[in-house]
Amino acid sequence: MDTNKATNRDLVIGIIGGLFVLYMAHNFDLFEYVVSYVTSHESWEADELFILSVYLTVALSVFSFRRWKEALEEIDKRKALEKDLIIAKNEADTANRTKGKFLADMSHELRTPLNSIIGFSEMLLDEAFGTLDKRQNRYVNNIHKSGNHLLNLINQLLDLSKIESGKVELHLEEFEIDILFEEINEVLDPLAKRKYIDLTYVSDPQIRVVNMDKIKMKQILFNLASNALKFTPEDGSVDIGVQKKGDLMQICITDSGPGIDEQGLKKIFEPFEQLGTNEGSEYKGTGLGLAIVRELVEMQKGHVWAESEPGKGTSFFLELPMNISIDG
Ligand SMILES: Nc1ncnc2c1ncn2[C@@H]1O[C@H](COP(=O)(O)OP(=O)(O)OP(=O)(O)O)[C@@H](O)[C@H]1O
Ligand SMILES: [Mg+2]
Repeated sequence: MDTNKATNRDLVIGIIGGLFVLYMAHNFDLFEYVVSYVTSHESWEADELFILSVYLTVALSVFSFRRWKEALEEIDKRKALEKDLIIAKNEADTANRTKGKFLADMSHELRTPLNSIIGFSEMLLDEAFGTLDKRQNRYVNNIHKSGNHLLNLINQLLDLSKIESGKVELHLEEFEIDILFEEINEVLDPLAKRKYIDLTYVSDPQIRVVNMDKIKMKQILFNLASNALKFTPEDGSVDIGVQKKGDLMQICITDSGPGIDEQGLKKIFEPFEQLGTNEGSEYKGTGLGLAIVRELVEMQKGHVWAESEPGKGTSFFLELPMNISIDG
C-alpha cells in the first residue's frame, strides 16, 4: 500500500518536474535567469537553453522511470511475500488442526486406562481387597497420585488446545457476581481450612448482576484462587476483592505466599512454566493453569497480570468488561 503511494508520488514529481522545465524553456527569460543564476554563466544562447531544458526533462523522466520501476519491483516482491505468508499460515492452521485432533484422540485413549488405574488404586487404598501394609499403602498411594496428576495434565492440555484452536465459544448469561463467589467459596473453603488460611471475599455494591460467561469466570477464578491457596503456607491469607472500574470489573486475588520475582512474573503465563515455589509442595501441578486463565480472559476481551513482592506475597489482577458483546 505504501509502495503504491511512493510510486505515484515519484511519477507526479517526475511529471511536475518535466512540466516545470518545459514551462521554463517556454519562458526563456525566466529560464535563462534561473540557469544563469545556478551556473553563474550569464550569456546563454536560446538554442543552448533549449537543449539544456530537453536534457533536464529527459534526466528527470529517466530518474522517475527508474524509481517507478523499482517501486513496481518492490510491489511484486511484497505480493510474493504475502503469498508465502498465506501459504505458511495455511500450513500452520493445518498443523494446528492435526495437533488438536491428535490431542483429542490421544487424550481419549489415555483417559480410559488412566481411569481404571485411578479407580482400582482407589479401591486398593480403601482396602476393599484386604489390608495393605505400610509399604504397599505408600506404593498404591503413589500410583493413585500419579494417575490423577496425569489425568489432570491431559485434561488441561486438551482444554488449552481447544481454546487455542478457537473451538471454545462464549456463552453469556446474566448472573449475580456474589453468587458466583459463593459457589467458588464452597470449593475453596475446605482447601483453605486444611491449611488454616484466612480466605476472604470483598464485594463492590456497585456490581451486582453481570452479563458474562459464568463457567469460564468460574474456571479463571478457581485456577487463580487455588494457586494462591496452594502456594501460600499454613496460617497465611488469601483475599479476593471485586471492584468497579468504569465499564470494567476488576478482580484482585492477593495472597501472603512466597511471591514471584521479576523474571518469574514475565513467564508464569506461558504453558509449562513453573517456578521454584512448587518444590516440596504436595501436589506439583502441570504448569498450564495460568496459560488457560490468560486464554479465557483474553477471549472475553479482558486482561490479566500479576504483581508481587518476593517474600511478601502475590496479587493477580483481572480486568474484564461486565457486559461483553460477542461481536465486538
Ligand atoms: N499465587 C502464587 N504464588 C506464587 N507462585 C505462583 C502463584 N501462582 C502461580 N505461581 C507460579 O506460577 C507457576 C505457574 O502456575 P500455573 O497455575 O500455570 O501452574 P501450576 O499451578 O504449577 O499447575 P496447574 O496446571 O495445576 O495449575 C506455578 O507453578 C508457580 O510457580
Ligand atoms: Mg495452577
